[in-house]
Amino acid sequence: MTELSSSPLRLLILISGNGSNLQAIVNEILAKKLNAVITKVISDQSDAFGLTRAARAGISTEILTRKNYPDRKTFFQALKEMLLACDCDLIVLAGFMQILPADIVNHFEGKMINIHPSLLPKYRGLHTYQQVLDANDTQHGVSVHFITADLDAGPLIAQAVFAVRPGEDLLSLQSRGQALEHRLLPKVIGWFADKRLQYQQNTVIFDQKTLGTFGLQFSEAELIKN
Ligand code: GRF
Repeated sequence: MTELSSSPLRLLILISGNGSNLQAIVNEILAKKLNAVITKVISDQSDAFGLTRAARAGISTEILTRKNYPDRKTFFQALKEMLLACDCDLIVLAGFMQILPADIVNHFEGKMINIHPSLLPKYRGLHTYQQVLDANDTQHGVSVHFITADLDAGPLIAQAVFAVRPGEDLLSLQSRGQALEHRLLPKVIGWFADKRLQYQQNTVIFDQKTLGTFGLQFSEAELIKN
């Protein structure tokens, strides 16, 4: 287990929906396996269930909906001010369904990560599980990466890979993928908390070594058993 001696990593989490990844992070913090504190959860959807999860965990929340702003520019300006005011160490996009403008991404370069339900660079964007089925892929997985101005294309930190079973349906694929997300994302955040992970000019450094294109690789068995 991680030694919880240094000051906790300050996290800000952005969500749009169910918040199951947020819950996974909360659970690891409560179990004292992750030396972090969630300073705030921001949602762009007022009915996101993740807001209820955050409130139950006693975490401060903000709702920032696009319809309350005259245009995209003012909406993202308000978001940027909120992110700056939070003074956090790491911003985690956990199912946040907005494409951030370059000025936000550039400002927080190296301090912002995303979880994506595919083995990037395959299947950027939405409906990744359906695309895997349509293509008859034999393997699938999830990725955690730094955010850069290119959608779902920032340097990869880690991936979890699993074999698609013959005849497997969408629901099964989704639930296996999400189970892996819930293990992988807190694990990556823990590396930040333990100062094992850094971002340097579009590359990822882990334990003083530069990671390869796909980041650290984990199998389903490794993540679900440990
Ligand atoms: C996750 O599957 C993540 O990969 C994608 O959005 C989903 C969010 O799920 N970016 P939840 O809100 O954490 O349950």
